[in-house]
Amino acid sequence: ALQGTFPLRAVKQKEAFQYKLQPQASYKVAVLGAAGGIGQPLALLIKMSPLVSALHLYDIANVKGVAADLSHCNTPSQVLDFTGPAELANCLKGMDVVVIPAGVPRKPGMTRDDLFNINAGIVKSLIEAVADNCPDAFIHIISNPVNSTVPIAAEVLKQKGVYDPKKLFGVTTLDVVRANTFVAQKKNLKLIDVDVPVVGGHAGLTILPLLSKTKPAVSFTDEEIEQLTVRIQNAGTEVVEAKAGTGSATLSMAYAAARFVESSLHALDGDADVYECSFVQSDLTELPFFASRVKLGRKGVEAFISSDLQGLTEYEEKAVEALKAELKASIEKGIAFANKQP
Ligand code: NAD
Ligand code: LMR
Repeated sequence: ALQGTFPLRAVKQKEAFQYKLQPQASYKVAVLGAAGGIGQPLALLIKMSPLVSALHLYDIANVKGVAADLSHCNTPSQVLDFTGPAELANCLKGMDVVVIPAGVPRKPGMTRDDLFNINAGIVKSLIEAVADNCPDAFIHIISNPVNSTVPIAAEVLKQKGVYDPKKLFGVTTLDVVRANTFVAQKKNLKLIDVDVPVVGGHAGLTILPLLSKTKPAVSFTDEEIEQLTVRIQNAGTEVVEAKAGTGSATLSMAYAAARFVESSLHALDGDADVYECSFVQSDLTELPFFASRVKLGRKGVEAFISSDLQGLTEYEEKAVEALKAELKASIEKGIAFANKQP
């Protein structure tokens, strides 16, 4: 039997995450945009999960080969491919989790918001299909700009009368993965132990690592805080520039998204101790959406970890205030797009 420690570590409150095969667990996961740079390695990582019984791969192109290839791996899930809007409904029916990395990535010199014109429409049409076919699924949105695509999805789900704010997630796990990696490197810590909450949103200054809340407790000089914060905020751009026009983060993103899927499946399975950061509808601030650590349960977001936003340093307090204007504008842009008349 498959048994052991899965390589992706979900954020749990107390202990590193040990994972035993639970043969009764059989969840269905769809990836929309599955033939892309993120979609392919993400599909592979989800195929490795013993918690998944069905893996549905959807794209507008090239997905047949990806599915044929993956289907030869001797792990439990059955892989099926779906191409084009006519097959989308069948892809989505019965899904527990829908992950959306469909859309165009950045090139050097672009902001995430420069992707809005293309990706907003892609996310809107995919969410309409999710609303019609699996309105109870957890929805994980990766497509950028996340600060706008999540509000677009919320509005579309509202228009369809099926919005459950506890089940709509903007995936910001990569910001946490990066923060954990960079802090562990700088402070010579064992990687598995490090956990840095990252709040706000997922673009530039809206990405705010709360270094004062790092676990285990670490002390940083002012210079280290400034350097680490800026590196975490610009890490996406670091990859975009290194890839020099061929795309943005795909492998680390797939890793991060697979961790968020795995955590969601554990939550659906009744695990009492699942915590992740995500960009969700929130009342932690005056903004309608805000990324923070949340506790996940069978019904989605069970609780906001509000203590993360209390007792912040002066640097963090200022940064939280400073990110609000940009985040508010991105949220409003998404809402306006979803509600404009065709
Ligand atoms: P990519 O171009 O390699 O792949 C995108 C895939 O989406 C392609 O296979 C394409 O055919 C497909 N697609 C396009 N329109 C579609 C539609 N209507 N329905 C289904 N599939 C469709 O891009 P990528 O590198 O995989 O990045 C995808 C998105 O993820 C980008 O918007 C990128 O900015 C974003 N991203 C987000 C994060 C994050 O942290 N949230 C990290 C990295 C990338
Ligand atoms: C990232 O953070 O890597 C993604 O949002 C992709 C990008 O455009 O930077």
